[in-house]
Amino acid sequence: MSNFYNKVTGEGWSRRQDGVAAFTITEVAATLTVATLVIIFFSWLVKKLIIKTKPSPPPPPGPIGLPILGHLLFIKPDFLHYVTKQSQIHGPIIKLQLGRKVYIIISSPSIAKQILKDHDAIFANRDIPMAAIKGTFGGLDIVWRSNGPELHKLRKLVVSEIMSNKGLNACYEFRRREIRHMVKNIHGKIGSPINLSEQIFLTTFNVTVNMLWGGSLNGKESNLGLEFKDRFEEFLRLMVEPNVSDMFPVLRPFDLQGIESKAKKNISWFYEFFESVIEQRRKLGEGPKMADSKDFLQQLLELNQTGDVKTSLSMKEINAMLLNIISGATDTTFTTMEWAMTELLRHPDKLRRVVDELDATISGPNIVEEFHLPRLLYLEAVVKETLRIHPPAPLLMPHMSSETTVVAGYTIPKNSNIFFNVWAIQRDADFWEDPLQFEPERENYDAGVGDVVALF
Ligand code: HEM
Repeated sequence: MSNFYNKVTGEGWSRRQDGVAAFTITEVAATLTVATLVIIFFSWLVKKLIIKTKPSPPPPPGPIGLPILGHLLFIKPDFLHYVTKQSQIHGPIIKLQLGRKVYIIISSPSIAKQILKDHDAIFANRDIPMAAIKGTFGGLDIVWRSNGPELHKLRKLVVSEIMSNKGLNACYEFRRREIRHMVKNIHGKIGSPINLSEQIFLTTFNVTVNMLWGGSLNGKESNLGLEFKDRFEEFLRLMVEPNVSDMFPVLRPFDLQGIESKAKKNISWFYEFFESVIEQRRKLGEGPKMADSKDFLQQLLELNQTGDVKTSLSMKEINAMLLNIISGATDTTFTTMEWAMTELLRHPDKLRRVVDELDATISGPNIVEEFHLPRLLYLEAVVKETLRIHPPAPLLMPHMSSETTVVAGYTIPKNSNIFFNVWAIQRDADFWEDPLQFEPERENYDAGVGDVVALF
């Protein structure tokens, strides 16, 4: 009777003269192959059984929603206040459903850290809304681009050319000029009412465009800055407006609320504006020199002409990037400065301390310079306290889970949108004494408790 081996190989056992079984290489290889297949099959079976018997952790808790719509009807008028209230009821990680989309809201620094640091690679993408698809040539910018070499290329460019000491020093003179211009303007209006918000916006905007292409939009062109502000606020409104095309992808072709067409129309103004700046630059050659270095626009345009795919940038990428930087830098900085001034005006004793510190640090008729900043510690605390109570991006930018992942004992489904409620974290009485009080004298900023922005 043939044995198992014979059935597999069709060969007989070869026996040595001394009666001990001996095998050829083919026989050994075939035996090992069969054994491996058997082991793989059994491991697969065991794994399947274990998975079947061991249930995965539950999804995060949350309020009960309506069939199909989920929580869609409850998030208006204010998404931030709705999610904060639900987190107070259900805990630091909650789940909401808006149509087919799952939203996870985090309001604990330690859970935020698990997502942003420990599972960074899984949560590095974003779920791009339809309005942003229309506004960024399908997500060619830094904010919405999928994680990968292309995104790393764009980030590297911004970090090395704009955020670096070299980049910041190169446009120091432009920054100094704009700030002095604003101070002079405000000083000239002593005794009469001024629109501080407008002044601060224009200065921030001019500083940013100076950083990019060495130009300013002062004087006659200041209307352009204000138009930029209005149009950008409209674009932001369209991006955060709950859009049924995002919540029910099957409805995407219909643009039922007209959000995508409005976003496309709204955004074309920005790209026409950039095109005119680029056109002008191409006619005039290189822009104003910044401490012997090329400005950012010049560098971008040069990258447009290289044939190297690793470094080259398309004109669409350049346009989307300019919009990212102007909008990312302007709105956040302007809002922070406006809140800082508001809080100081509400608290004259704190304002007095800022002025006293400036007087003690800057001698005689001199004007404050950036190199004074390391000695202006109270002013720094005022900025930190302003960012704590009034974070310009209260839910940060949503991240997306690229895989189903277990975090803090809960299963976060693949493709969920993750929001970090820094607004609530930074007002949490567990971390901050008397949290709603504007108190730059606090000492625990550097302890990192609740300062989630430090994770980026
Ligand atoms: C008070 C000041 C600012 C705040 C609170 C702020 C906040 C943020 C937040 C929350 C994100 C999203 C991070 C993430 O989800 O991964 C972000 C991204 C970004 N910010 Fe800012 N920002 C500020 C100033 C600036 C400035 C001055 C610039 C430019 C000069 C800038 C350019 C950008 C860019 C390009 C991104 C996209 C980065 C990426 O996804 O890799 N921001 N910012």
